[in-house]
Amino acid sequence: MAIVILRNDGLVDVWKAALNAQAPDIPVYGSGEDIPRSDIKMAAVWKHPPGSLKSYPNLQGIQGLGAGVDFIFDDAEIRKDLPIMRVVDPYLASDMAEFVLALTTGMLKRIQDYKYNESLSLWKPKTYQRFKEVTVGIMGLGKLGLAVAESLKSVGFSVVGWTRNSVPEVNFPVFRGGGERINFLNRSQVLVCLLPLTPETRGILNRDVFNALPSGARLINVARGPLLVDGELLNALDQGMLAEACLDVFHAEPLPADHPFWKHPAVHITPHIASVSDPKSVAPQIISNYRRLLRGESPENLVSRNAGY
Ligand code: GLV
Repeated sequence: MAIVILRNDGLVDVWKAALNAQAPDIPVYGSGEDIPRSDIKMAAVWKHPPGSLKSYPNLQGIQGLGAGVDFIFDDAEIRKDLPIMRVVDPYLASDMAEFVLALTTGMLKRIQDYKYNESLSLWKPKTYQRFKEVTVGIMGLGKLGLAVAESLKSVGFSVVGWTRNSVPEVNFPVFRGGGERINFLNRSQVLVCLLPLTPETRGILNRDVFNALPSGARLINVARGPLLVDGELLNALDQGMLAEACLDVFHAEPLPADHPFWKHPAVHITPHIASVSDPKSVAPQIISNYRRLLRGESPENLVSRNAGY
């Protein structure tokens, strides 16, 4: 009985060490090892090669190693009866809140613009905005969205939220569903996207959304690249409808060197780093889920196959 870790990023050993340190009794294998395939009960995955889970005949569950599990649903060959779990971790939420706060404050104080001007040796003062004069709209009010809202409010921003679902009682206006989306967008001077990627949300950040934002609005996408229609963002920036965009996630990662985002002065790029699962912090929930699966109990942080997240 064992766990296999399948990742695309060379971090298998770090995850293995975190699991070994906290549960020395559980055998953990990495993708490069000689794996006793029929012993594997749980696969812990981050962008595993599609189809690779088929070779573990006694798998009882798939543990995603991040908040988003879209890459698991993209694997058409996973068994439909297996439970899929995601990571829910306080650091994932607080790291995201800190990152979005840094991007938002940086844009409003023009830090990214000055960095660009520095590369041109250009001394050019610009206007800036005060936090209390700005409303930030958050699309997606899951654990991360709510943490982002709280941190933005704590430094003086007004916050509005949009969700397709019901949310816990919050101390800011929430707009729900397609019918209220336009009212939400009309208010969002900075739009932060934290939606899961599903067939319904793919391409949701498009021309219609950019048209509905106040003129000169700013976009932050820290969710998934395919939520955004790249060409329609570039048009909105070039036409001056949007002032700038901070993008942490892309259709293809790493972002190809010839993508127009790299050279666009109003697009600020970070390499999918907004909030990264911390192996030490996340290990206990993986271990607990593994033990639950072995006992025949339902694991925690299950995702819904119907909803796709
Ligand atoms: C990061 O993108 C995650 O899904 O945790």
